[in-house]
Amino acid sequence: MELRQNHTRIKVINIILALFTVILTDSRNSVSGRKVDHYKEYNFEYSSTSCRAHSATLTDFGGVGDGKTLNTKAFKDAICYLSQFESDGGSILFVPPGKWLTGSFNITSDHFTLFLHQDAVLLASQDENDWAVIKPLPSYGRGRDTEGGRYISLIFGTNLTDIVITGDNGTIDGQGQTWWDKFHKGELQYTRPYLIEILYSENIQISNLTLVNSPSWNIHPTYSSNVIVQGITITAPVTSPNTDGINPDSCTNVRIEDCFIVSGDDCVAIKSGWDEYGITFGMPTKQVFIKRLTCISPTSATIALGSEMSGGIEDVRAEDILAINTESGVRIKTAVGRGGYVKDIYVKGMILKTMKYVFWMTGNYGSHPDNNYDPNALPVIQNINYRDVAAENVTIAAHLEGIQGDPFTGICISNVTIEMAQKANKLPWNCTDISGISSDVTPQPCDLLPDQGEGYTSVCNFPTERIPIDEVEVQTCACKTKVLTRNVY
Ligand SMILES: *[C@@H]1O[C@H](CO)[C@@H](O)[C@H](O)[C@H]1NC(C)=O
Ligand SMILES: *[C@@H]1O[C@H](CO)[C@@H](O)[C@H](O)[C@H]1NC(C)=O
Ligand SMILES: *[C@@H]1O[C@H](CO)[C@@H](O)[C@H](O)[C@H]1NC(C)=O
Ligand SMILES: *[C@@H]1O[C@H](CO)[C@@H](O)[C@H](O)[C@H]1NC(C)=O
Ligand SMILES: *[C@@H]1O[C@H](CO)[C@@H](O)[C@H](O)[C@H]1NC(C)=O
Ligand SMILES: *[C@@H]1O[C@H](CO)[C@@H](O)[C@H](O)[C@H]1NC(C)=O
Ligand SMILES: *[C@@H]1O[C@H](CO)[C@@H](O)[C@H](O)[C@H]1NC(C)=O
Repeated sequence: MELRQNHTRIKVINIILALFTVILTDSRNSVSGRKVDHYKEYNFEYSSTSCRAHSATLTDFGGVGDGKTLNTKAFKDAICYLSQFESDGGSILFVPPGKWLTGSFNITSDHFTLFLHQDAVLLASQDENDWAVIKPLPSYGRGRDTEGGRYISLIFGTNLTDIVITGDNGTIDGQGQTWWDKFHKGELQYTRPYLIEILYSENIQISNLTLVNSPSWNIHPTYSSNVIVQGITITAPVTSPNTDGINPDSCTNVRIEDCFIVSGDDCVAIKSGWDEYGITFGMPTKQVFIKRLTCISPTSATIALGSEMSGGIEDVRAEDILAINTESGVRIKTAVGRGGYVKDIYVKGMILKTMKYVFWMTGNYGSHPDNNYDPNALPVIQNINYRDVAAENVTIAAHLEGIQGDPFTGICISNVTIEMAQKANKLPWNCTDISGISSDVTPQPCDLLPDQGEGYTSVCNFPTERIPIDEVEVQTCACKTKVLTRNVY
């Protein structure tokens, strides 16, 4: 067994794709009946916010990629070993081609990268014993499926700095079917696990991976800042329960771009805690930029704000959004008892095909953690801007429902063309307890959004100054590592 500690930090010269070169070295002449060690050398490049000085591969730690052997210990040992390089240039753990069955494992090293080869599949164990049970999040007070604890996520990390989970479009398969069945049958002892959850951390990159069949949510950055989620494909059956794509929760400075999501719940859901627990915890999600998102989610939103929003949600920007056969566009979900706020939301450029709703806001979402919520904790919803939207085959143009005595204000909708479906509702716009304006919108909006006439297209703001995470450049890194394969002749 040999560990390659590699030190590759290269200058970027217009390299476009990560190329894997597989070189067979060290393979001695085969002699009948003898074991022969082959080293496959992997040289590859990847896009990252930070490159690493040291590397190792999972097989160096006893990993077996046969789809049957449990690799939880191999991951743990590999990451433990690599943590020695935390303050010496950081490290990358390479997962080679293969099917790597594993229970949950923790990232316990700062300045760490997990890289999945394009033919590497992490298979999540379906045995509950392979998932530790951890406390509920303080801003939620309980698990979402059950009261009390929750199964830890497949890849979990807390109190970390500079973590990259990436690959050349390698796969993480949550094998969620057994969890979905237990959820439907009410047989869950604890709340279902997520695929990736990172708490109390900064400088996180999750990129160039395919995530399939998560037991529940896919990517959950929480109480963290400076988060980039890029080039992620997420798929789950559109009937699977709560398979939300990307859920930034009480996070600051988040950039989500070039993602393709098909799921049974919201493609992206921005959150910040639940009722009295979220109000007490008091940590908002702010400065979020979502670009070039494609979503298919027939019973949920392209982007949801809430329903858990008790710590507040502010300054969210969404641009170049495509949704197909999806229930709604950018949706606000809240309720009496949530407290908090959703404000300064800017949406520009949505193409929507076959939608139940284009615009949807609800102040009566309900769904409380318990009965101890404060009925006087009213959410503040204000300054919500939508512009440049083209939608077709739409059942309801807008259902905008504020809260009686607590109207949603400052709603601005401009330059929107909605082609209604043949079987559309008779009333395309239904607005209660809201106020705002509109300009250049067809069909004609409700009276609570008075038309400002043409030429007001730019009235719905979209900020020109960038948020800090938008300035972060991704560089090209190189890695060289080798994998031992032993063949018997
Ligand atoms: C990762 O995805 C980005 C686009 O999001 C692409 O530019 C880059 O080449 C990809 N990198 C790898 C290593 O596949
Ligand atoms: C991961 O960390 C949690 C606590 O944060 C712990 O309960 C669990 O046992 C750890 N998992 C492994 C595989 O060590
Ligand atoms: C992680 O950070 C949070 C917030 O700073 C702190 O409350 C918690 O104790 C830390 N946990 C660990 C395991 O260090
Ligand atoms: C990644 O793999 C998925 C699933 O095979 C595929 O749909 C997607 O197009 C791939 N993404 C890239 C950037 O190659
Ligand atoms: C109106 O929206 C469309 C996209 O639906 C866009 O192409 C066009 O430039 C917008 N017009 C103005 C004046 O911004
Ligand atoms: C329009 O939407 C309906 C469902 O509301 C769907 O059955 C139909 O195929 C869609 N038509 C087109 C042209 O996409
Ligand atoms: C309009 O919305 C209100 C509030 O949600 C609802 O009570 C009412 O039934 C809706 N009207 C129509 C015609 O859909």
